[in-house]
Amino acid sequence: MKRSIIVLGAMLLGASAVMAQQDIVKDRQATMKANGRALGGTLSAMAKGDKPYDQDAVDAALVVLDDTAKKLPALFPESTKGMKAEGDYSTSPKLWEDKAGFDAKVASFTKVVTEAKAKIKDLDSLKANVGGIGKECGSCHEAFRLKI
Ligand code: HEC
Repeated sequence: MKRSIIVLGAMLLGASAVMAQQDIVKDRQATMKANGRALGGTLSAMAKGDKPYDQDAVDAALVVLDDTAKKLPALFPESTKGMKAEGDYSTSPKLWEDKAGFDAKVASFTKVVTEAKAKIKDLDSLKANVGGIGKECGSCHEAFRLKI
């Protein structure tokens, strides 16, 4: 009896660990989708003139990217290797094989976002900085994102 309680407890613990990992996988997908909205839907759209310049919306988008920069290291624990969310993309196993390479991309993204926050004050400075942010996204995706 005691033993079966222990076994059941261990099974529940195992199940909740898998659930926690699935939550992380979903969280990173949701975080990335929010990045897509912040960059494509707000910053690039304004830089291209598809939307009028709005400093509040720019600041909010930069906060989303800044939060991502802070969250990125925790979004890819090794325990989620091989797991994927529903959708078109997953994470390449290379991310865990080249942890230093991934950390470097995170550091570089963080630097560019921090600089953009200080620099973007009007349409011209938005235009001057938006491409640099997009490059950071693309460079990490090229190395570590897979199209399913
Ligand atoms: C340090 C690496 C890194 C950076 C920087 C990064 N991404 Fe990603 N992104 C990934 C990885 C890895 C995935 C695949 C995640 C998964 O497993 O679902 C991804 C997935 C995505 C997706 C697909 C989400 C989905 O499943 O529908 C979008 C959209 C996206 N990123 C946008 C962005 C944008 C926009 C930026 C820049 C503002 C950015 N990302 C910066 C690594 C990064």
